[in-house]
Amino acid sequence: MKKNINLYKFKELDSTNDYLERNHKNYEEFDVICTKNQTHGRARRQNDWVSMEGMAIFSFFLEERENWKIEDYLKLPLIAGLATIRGLRGIENLEYKFKWTNDVYLENKKLCGILIEKIDDVYIVGIGINVNNILPGKLKNKAISLTQLTNKKYEIEKIIKNIISEFQMLCEKLENGLWEDILKEINEMNYLKNKKIELKFGNEKVLGIAQDINENGEIEVLVKKDEAGKGEIKSFSIGEVFEKIKIF
Ligand code: BTN
Repeated sequence: MKKNINLYKFKELDSTNDYLERNHKNYEEFDVICTKNQTHGRARRQNDWVSMEGMAIFSFFLEERENWKIEDYLKLPLIAGLATIRGLRGIENLEYKFKWTNDVYLENKKLCGILIEKIDDVYIVGIGINVNNILPGKLKNKAISLTQLTNKKYEIEKIIKNIISEFQMLCEKLENGLWEDILKEINEMNYLKNKKIELKFGNEKVLGIAQDINENGEIEVLVKKDEAGKGEIKSFSIGEVFEKIKIF
């Protein structure tokens, strides 16, 4: 499955995901569309992604595979998160954390966001990482960039290539039945573990203490039954997570 990584570089695009949605038929699997800036960067849940020069902004796609089940594709956000962490570690070895479902955190702040979308028979993976950019004041409490922590400048193309190559290796591992190993690695960097969280999905919300990510890629949450009663573990495959107070 592993192939040479071709980078297609742009100065500015609306969104690298949107570009690939329109043009994926002209590219090959794992070709990378990267840009210095986006005019309409998109995040999950119809939110905007603030793009700026110095970020790693890129998208690529995975073709549907005959030997994959639907459950395998549901693991893609986790695989993309782990590939990002591994790829970054190869450049700068820091304490990256994986925040379920698909964010990378550093020093308790968001370093990277991932947006995966299906169009026709391909899964588009879009990744935005704060690398050499300085975050504007209003985001400084929530987000962090590599350069803000280390005062170094990084080669963005190198980071991107590392991540794509890790992503390819992890897909191969998944195909070879090694999901348990991948999951173990992800759980070792589980940002939410033991944190008090509120999980919102649709009109519902639950409050509890996050546990491990289970074999289906779902987050397990210890939900309190009642004042006297013991907790109950529930698992969730989707949802927006809000941190409450830390519990150790
Ligand atoms: C999120 O945090 O909810 C996901 C953010 C994903 C941002 C990246 S930047 C490259 C690609 N193009 C987009 O428009 N979005 C993704």
